[in-house]
Amino acid sequence: MMKEVDMKPRAVVRDAAQYGGSEIFSIQDVSPILPNILGPNDVIVKMAFTSVNPAEVKIAHGAVRFLESGGARNSGWRIPGADFSGTVTAIGANVTKVAVGDEVLGEIATSSIFSGNGTWAEEMITQEDYCLKKPSTMPSDIAGALAMVAHTSMTAIRYYMGGAGGQRVLVIGGSSGTGMMAIQIMKAHGAAFVAATCSAKNVALVQSLGADLVIDYTTQDWTIELRGKDLDVVYDCVGGRSHWYNCPKVLKPSWGKYIAVAPDDPDADVSCSLLLGMVGGSINRKFWSFFGHPGYYMVQSSPNAEYLAEVVRLHADGKLKVVIDSVHPFTTEGVRAALDKVAGRHTSGKVLIKIS
Ligand SMILES: NC(=O)c1ccc[n+]([C@@H]2O[C@H](COP(=O)([O-])OP(=O)(O)OC[C@H]3O[C@@H](n4cnc5c(N)ncnc54)[C@H](OP(=O)(O)O)[C@@H]3O)[C@@H](O)[C@H]2O)c1
Repeated sequence: MMKEVDMKPRAVVRDAAQYGGSEIFSIQDVSPILPNILGPNDVIVKMAFTSVNPAEVKIAHGAVRFLESGGARNSGWRIPGADFSGTVTAIGANVTKVAVGDEVLGEIATSSIFSGNGTWAEEMITQEDYCLKKPSTMPSDIAGALAMVAHTSMTAIRYYMGGAGGQRVLVIGGSSGTGMMAIQIMKAHGAAFVAATCSAKNVALVQSLGADLVIDYTTQDWTIELRGKDLDVVYDCVGGRSHWYNCPKVLKPSWGKYIAVAPDDPDADVSCSLLLGMVGGSINRKFWSFFGHPGYYMVQSSPNAEYLAEVVRLHADGKLKVVIDSVHPFTTEGVRAALDKVAGRHTSGKVLIKIS
């Protein structure tokens, strides 16, 4: 039997044709643009918390307009957001993994992010594959903060590094959301040595996450502090061409890896020519890796139930902390302040929006 959608949520929206900073967002009633019928695998979540990732800032600025599609259900509006925690209020006919009343967390499908069907809403529709039941011991704010950065760093560690056991690593951007995850997961998975960079204000925080050496990038040079350390991996959570060019100074002479989550120019708009340039650059870097130069890997993360469950388990075991920078109210001003904070690039933990 077809189930009807019964929800009247307000959501953060921008006009699909409008690009810019936080000023382009406002909170609107989005019930007119929702579907009437719930799909068989759909799950409606009454949102508790969501987080702000740099992706939302980049999408708002139009940096990836080339990859965008549709607009929230072709309405002309776009709802941002990827991470969620909340309570299931309705399920489609084929849903078996979660039930009404379950508290869940997760990151929505990448296609939903690029079509503007995001999580910055009082209620939102996702699919059961993207929902993980939240342990009762995990607070809802922590649950709403971690999915995207967990998926990203787990992908780097499991897929690109082949596991962290015994590895010697530099994390560039140790206080970033992805960097904080990486340090803790690597240490929990048996990394032999994890160094990390951050500015002075975040040194104590990054030390508390288990980094063996913390380098203040505003007064120290990691290429000097780590010279001759023969690292296995440089994991770059900040991006920038100089990190790639300098990584051979600290990596072991052959088979070292440079793994980045952000590209050479993190501010560049994604266009056909940029993508072609990136592909060409990657092929060139891979070619030289056969002659002893470091291997080059650009992380492409997407939701992964196994990876998220692993991170949730580490949190339950007391092996992983989720650091919160700030929590902002679900008001137009609150959401704009949250976006501005992340756009400033000097947060100390995750920036959250409390929805209910
Ligand atoms: N490829 C993918 O699938 C994927 C997935 C997720 C994210 N990303 C990208 O990865 C990047 C990181 O995302 P995130 O959420 O981790 O970022 P974030 O939490 O917003 O990063 C902010 C942090 O970066 C630190 N930082 C800024 N400049 C630095 C520098 N030069 N050296 C060291 N640390 C620096 C800041 O520390 P200080 O204040 O101490 O400077 C701050 O703590 C973004 O570009 C994002 O778009 C890619």
